[in-house]
Amino acid sequence: MIVTTAQLFKHAYGKYAIGAYNINNAEQAMGLFKGAIDSQAPFIIQISKGARNYTDKRMLEAIIRAAGDIFPEAIFAVHLDHGDEATCYDCIDSGFFSSVMIDASHDPFEKNVEITKRVVERAHAKGLSVEAELGMLGGVEEDIVVEEGHSCLTDPAEAEEFVKQTGCDSLACAIGTSHGAFKFKGKQSLHFDVLEKIKARMNGFPLVMHGSSSVPQDEVARINAAGGTIAGSMGVDVNEYLPAAKLGVTKINIDTDGRLVWTRVHREFFRDKPAEFDFRPPGKIFIVEYAKFIASRNVLLGSAGQLADLRASLTK
Ligand code: G3H
Ligand code: 13P
Ligand code: ZN
Repeated sequence: MIVTTAQLFKHAYGKYAIGAYNINNAEQAMGLFKGAIDSQAPFIIQISKGARNYTDKRMLEAIIRAAGDIFPEAIFAVHLDHGDEATCYDCIDSGFFSSVMIDASHDPFEKNVEITKRVVERAHAKGLSVEAELGMLGGVEEDIVVEEGHSCLTDPAEAEEFVKQTGCDSLACAIGTSHGAFKFKGKQSLHFDVLEKIKARMNGFPLVMHGSSSVPQDEVARINAAGGTIAGSMGVDVNEYLPAAKLGVTKINIDTDGRLVWTRVHREFFRDKPAEFDFRPPGKIFIVEYAKFIASRNVLLGSAGQLADLRASLTK
């Protein structure tokens, strides 16, 4: 069942975080839904502009609708990840999305406010909620690359002002993470000090953490042992998900880790079976492995086991 992102946030806020997982194809969708049901967790499916162009946006929508039919127990929202203004309008008008993210974080504050406000107006008129971003994460966001050292943490006072001026429904904050597999050099923690200050000003307002993949070191080792060269990659400490959730981080975005599962499964499969050329056997393994990964993340996010209570709260 597709619900609004606001409904999911209302149930989760301050207690646990909803996992927001990107999908690009049918195998990812099957693994995601299976993992969510296995762990009895609500979730958000994220679709990026790149994913919408990978095959065709209609293909992705059809895959998600079909997955919803195959797993009728699932409760989820459909969200545009890192949208530009035009893509936000396309998703708002499609009638399929629960929420959109307008990412104008690379623009100066006033321009970010101006663009976000326009998207909020169009989205709210159709009952969708809007995630906006303030501050800059490192790494690659769609077509924009933020060099290391040029990322900047969200300023709590600016965040409060930004939300007031734009009317957005959730805010992606830069608290030390970045996109992709190379987030940190050495051990680093999330900036809980920033989160605490934001929460003190905006208690009850849902925050979003992008760049939340943990880049499991055993996964990276297996990829490298099977011919990969992903050296020195580092992710978020999974034990920091729940403490962040308690401080208002209600949506935690995970994409890279799913790509690592895919890469490990396929590299190992073809290393061990060099004469194989059928894509279905590794595809089947991937679905099972991705489902296991999703279930394990939902446990760490605290969303595992929440489905029954959420369902009851939706019918009240
Ligand atoms: O933050 C970006 C997400 O990981 C989506 O990546 O734009 O390559 O689909 P993508
Ligand atoms: P990761 O690259 O850490 O998975 O982040 C994904 C993300 O933020 C999607 O918006
Ligand atoms: Zn992101």
